[in-house]
Amino acid sequence: MRRIAMINQKGGVGKTTTAVNVAAGLARWGSRVLLVDLDPQAHTSMHLGIEAGPDEPGIYDVLVNGTAAGDALREVSDKLTVLASHVDLVAAESELSQRPDRELILRRALEPLFDRFDFIIIDCPPSLGTLTINALAATEEVIIPLQPHFLALQGLGMLLKTASAVRGVLNPSLRISGIALCMYEKGTRLAQEVDNDVRQFIASASPDDVWYGARVFDTTIRRNIKLAECPSFGLTIFDYAPSSNGAEDYGGLARELLEMTSPASAAALVERGAEVASQVVREAAADVDMVLPPDSIATTDSLSSSPQLETRPAATPDTVNP
Ligand SMILES: Nc1ncnc2c1ncn2[C@@H]1O[C@H](COP(=O)(O)OP(=O)(O)OP(=O)(O)O)[C@@H](O)[C@H]1O
Ligand SMILES: [Mg+2]
Repeated sequence: MRRIAMINQKGGVGKTTTAVNVAAGLARWGSRVLLVDLDPQAHTSMHLGIEAGPDEPGIYDVLVNGTAAGDALREVSDKLTVLASHVDLVAAESELSQRPDRELILRRALEPLFDRFDFIIIDCPPSLGTLTINALAATEEVIIPLQPHFLALQGLGMLLKTASAVRGVLNPSLRISGIALCMYEKGTRLAQEVDNDVRQFIASASPDDVWYGARVFDTTIRRNIKLAECPSFGLTIFDYAPSSNGAEDYGGLARELLEMTSPASAAALVERGAEVASQVVREAAADVDMVLPPDSIATTDSLSSSPQLETRPAATPDTVNP
């Protein structure tokens, strides 16, 4: 089981988009995924068409009222479960700050669920306050979504310092495991420069650094309007626009994450996902009485031969009727 927090205290860099769509990609390939919305903005919850409220317990109740996390889960699909947020969570920062064990509340709340999931992914708010510290104490890995523009690296120092401090005091197994370049404008000099700077910075880490060995993901997330549109439909990119660049990129990122666990099992999972995808396309095609050209269906061959997912991770009728 892997626990990953998406953190960057800079706002609007792609944390939520990455958390939701990577979680959805992993779930599509058969991993059991719990997505925790730790942001009072509740964007992850809204992205999936879910809202915590007075009658629907969410992360606020878990952190502040002691509700068991298992009683606050919401199923989005067979494999994807969400612990939803609500604007009330904004009060949790100050309410938790009164508690002596304030940094470990999330970790203790999630512990009983560790066996139930293959991945726990936490979407964090754009700050390094008590909520984010709780995420750092509850996870083993941090992925930093980064938007390559001027000053992209500014502020990272504070995040790395905070992560180092949490590792030293609360969570010895914490490390920065990856950096995901989001809203990437391929071919621009700026994107290339930031990409190079990040790689150089990671390569020059020493073994004691909390970011030592971090992977700058080969898959960059291109700017894609479908990614900005899908939250308003309450859908992940795989359901909203399965043949978009956004689906391809987040499929590729999810696959890289799986490969970090075990390259062999990643390939097996992706193959299984491709079989399911082919079946869905065939059924959808039969429904609309359509004949598909042979190359329109993801094959296990095309998936396993490509270093990055070059085809749709899964298909819906949208694929058949673009
Ligand atoms: N690759 C992309 N292409 C186009 N739009 C994107 C992309 N990634 C994210 N966006 C859009 O950019 C905005 C910011 O993204 P997102 O909400 O994921 O960032 P965030 O880091 O979670 O923000 P916050 O710090 O406020 O929580 C959103 O409107 C989102 O839909
Ligand atoms: Mg967000």
